[in-house]
Amino acid sequence: MANKIIIGVWKDRLTVNESAKLARFLGERFKGAKWPFLGGIAPAPITITKVLNRLKGSPVQVINQDVHWPASSGSYIGSTSIAMLKELKIKVTMIGHSERRRFFGETNDDIRRKLLGCLDNGIYPILCIGDSETDERVRNEVLTEQLRNVIGQNLTPIIDMSNIVIAYEPVWAISTWRDKRPLPTGQEVGEMLDNVRSLVHKVTNQEPSKCPILFGGSVSPANAYDYFTKANVDGALVGGASLEGESMAAIFEAGLSAWKK
Ligand code: PGA
Repeated sequence: MANKIIIGVWKDRLTVNESAKLARFLGERFKGAKWPFLGGIAPAPITITKVLNRLKGSPVQVINQDVHWPASSGSYIGSTSIAMLKELKIKVTMIGHSERRRFFGETNDDIRRKLLGCLDNGIYPILCIGDSETDERVRNEVLTEQLRNVIGQNLTPIIDMSNIVIAYEPVWAISTWRDKRPLPTGQEVGEMLDNVRSLVHKVTNQEPSKCPILFGGSVSPANAYDYFTKANVDGALVGGASLEGESMAAIFEAGLSAWKK
């Protein structure tokens, strides 16, 4: 797995044709480019085959937004199966996004099953965790609870953290639920991810450097470079700012400037 990652998450905000058009823009803009990071977009499932087609010849990868856990397809109406991802050679999927937790009632148990299903099948999961807390102690309890029940060292099988990506998305910073708190500076994001890194270490007892840790929550062309140049920030999940071509391109370019070899 790459150690720097930028993903634009389109959720269900674009129609099929809008997704194809935006993918064509990004595919043409970055045709033939080589990136020192994994750059991708996570479109709605029904748009994926069209989007894949428009991105051919560019480094922009297709990432899946969410997956159901059984390795075989079957009786899970409305789901995207792991078998479908394998067929399309999609290697990475998000799981546990706060909108899945809140609007679809997903529990840490569900998310752990998804994580294990991915790992058993060679798919890299991006595990999203998040909180709304202002108090640091409570925040750490909430995050520890999410981590412990999905990747904790007391669970079997023990998970090899080098096959996982963590995305820390403070719920209050995500545009869906933005509150009045100012967006964090690069330094604050670096500190938050440093804290997440040590929580991951505590619950897994594995080298914290093994897994990339991304930030999510109103990342935009205005703050991306500041975030990406901080030592503990391995990249971002980008929602709203990924819905417009120039804006998403500028965020990929911020990654290029921050991480050029
Ligand atoms: P946002 O969304 O960038 O619009 O805040 C991020 C996310 O939901 O992952």
